[in-house]
Amino acid sequence: MNNVLLEAKSITKKYDDTRYVLKEVDLVIEGGQFIAILGHSGSGKSTMLNVLSTILKPTSGQVFYKGKDITRLSKRDIASLRRDDIGFVFQHYLMLPNLTVRENIQIGNQKENNDIDLEKLCDLLGINQLLERYPYQLSGGEQQRVCIARALIKNPAILFCDEATGALDSDNSKNIICMLHNIKKEYGTTIIFTTHNKEIAKTADRILQLEDGQIIEDYMNQQILSPEHMKWEI
Ligand SMILES: Nc1ncnc2c1ncn2[C@@H]1O[C@H](COP(=O)(O)OP(=O)(O)OP(=O)(O)O)[C@@H](O)[C@H]1O
Ligand SMILES: [Mg+2]
Repeated sequence: MNNVLLEAKSITKKYDDTRYVLKEVDLVIEGGQFIAILGHSGSGKSTMLNVLSTILKPTSGQVFYKGKDITRLSKRDIASLRRDDIGFVFQHYLMLPNLTVRENIQIGNQKENNDIDLEKLCDLLGINQLLERYPYQLSGGEQQRVCIARALIKNPAILFCDEATGALDSDNSKNIICMLHNIKKEYGTTIIFTTHNKEIAKTADRILQLEDGQIIEDYMNQQILSPEHMKWEI
């Protein structure tokens, strides 16, 4: 496989001595795909995302980013990897209340060169009319789109989304999934998105199904569902 971006080799995770939450997971992720990690509550989705994205260290095993073992990096190297290459979006959108939307987004770019045009990005996310507003003047869906813009403004190679639409209603969720697909097309961003929602997973290029800390299914989606046609069965 060429274009390998992220690779997990036999990763395990236990938080205490009782049980493994991840069990010997092997995974190879190519760049430029939208990947859904699908599973029930407690199956280990967030744990897996956090181990892949440097937030958590695995109990054993290794994670390679562009061929480099990121489980052995110094704190400083982890910080620079997160600053430059990785974007995060979580279920609960957190914005700084005393800053405008534009300023909240700019916080996401600590790189010297800004490789994404803020106005164009906000256009893709439908928030370019909101740039001078403050967070209290936005709906939940709009706040989440600002958080996505903040994660993307540095043009990360990978965007990790942990149930990024989990707090939103179906229309807002659909909207965000559509926009993430457009972002992938426009910037070539690899998107790894955890969800318990099968309809969201059906829009992905690749679906990894997690159960009890193991990948029980892993397939390229042959019938990609257009995000506009998602039906909701939450
Ligand atoms: N910090 C922690 N300390 C101890 N146990 C934890 C911790 N975080 C998660 N767990 C346990 O690990 C298991 C997997 O949790 P995880 O959050 O990865 O699941 P999930 O698939 O993301 O679930 P959800 O859909 O509810 O977000 C659960 O049984 C959970 O209780
Ligand atoms: Mg979770």
